[in-house]
Amino acid sequence: MSEPNRRDFLFLATGAAGAVAVGGVAWPLISQMSPDASTIAAGAPVEVDLAPIAEGRAITLKWRGKPIFVRHRTAAEIEASKKDDASGLPDPQADAARVRAFEGKALEQWVVVYGNCTHLGCVPIGFSGDFNGWYCPCHGSHYDNAGRIRKGPAPRNLDIPEFTFLSASKIRIG
Ligand code: FES
Repeated sequence: MSEPNRRDFLFLATGAAGAVAVGGVAWPLISQMSPDASTIAAGAPVEVDLAPIAEGRAITLKWRGKPIFVRHRTAAEIEASKKDDASGLPDPQADAARVRAFEGKALEQWVVVYGNCTHLGCVPIGFSGDFNGWYCPCHGSHYDNAGRIRKGPAPRNLDIPEFTFLSASKIRIG
């Protein structure tokens, strides 16, 4: 198991504490989201500005009490994931089915998934595991960078929340 990666930032949308950085790097995403934190906590749809999330990085935000991972994949990561589309996945799903489009163009660099392992709900660690996607240390489930289960007891891919692109650099979750 790899150690938690510093590219994986944690953002808590509940309360005034704002951004909590993993790895000692501040990440002022609180200003990138609307509506305000109390409304988000109540379950309203939330808009997330993707611009501050650099390629090769990810954030974790909390919405409706659940973690959501937003990952900005590199071209190499996308290519690696697509290459595995037909490799006998436990929960077969093409990489293309894991991403969403804006104005007819798939924005495949963005993966948005619930951050709960589909085994028993632990929160997997980003940029970890045998497929450099997410690794769930609770019982050893390995996900790839599209959030597909590849190895371990988890029965299915990480769930994708309802979300749409409002622009090429902004999504609305919910
Ligand atoms: S909860 Fe993730 S492997 Fe069991």
